[in-house]
Amino acid sequence: MAKVAVGCDHGGFVLKDSVVNALRELGAEVVDFGCFDESSVDYPLYGEKVARAVADGQCDAGVAMCGTGIGISIAANKVKGIRAAVVTNTYMAKLTKNHNNANVIALGGRVISPAEAAEIVKIWYTEEYEGGRHQRRLDMISRIEGGER
Ligand code: RB5
Repeated sequence: MAKVAVGCDHGGFVLKDSVVNALRELGAEVVDFGCFDESSVDYPLYGEKVARAVADGQCDAGVAMCGTGIGISIAANKVKGIRAAVVTNTYMAKLTKNHNNANVIALGGRVISPAEAAEIVKIWYTEEYEGGRHQRRLDMISRIEGGER
């Protein structure tokens, strides 16, 4: 059973229950890093919590949510080993697993509905990474991350 880290700010909170329920229906164990209500908080903290849980191996993957998905994805992507993708539809959910092997997806509570978030999570979770030519490209990203030129 996969363990999935979930975290959001106040702008993403509207999606969290739907995402957690979808993950549990898929058989995942969910680790909820907050936030726990709609009081204003700072998205970098939650992006970092989700990303570190994945990068440290505590969780296999993560879902991060803010108003747009953008800020929290930028924060998560600062953690080494994280490939966080903003996803706004099911096509992106499929491709970001098939090609980018995104280990975190970022969703926007002011962009998509809770029902759309659940669909996106299901597709990303169940699709497979294709490897092959895509691995070469992910290796190139790791090289950039490592500071090599
Ligand atoms: C918070 O108002 C908002 O800026 C945040 O949720 C997110 O959309 C940032 O990218």
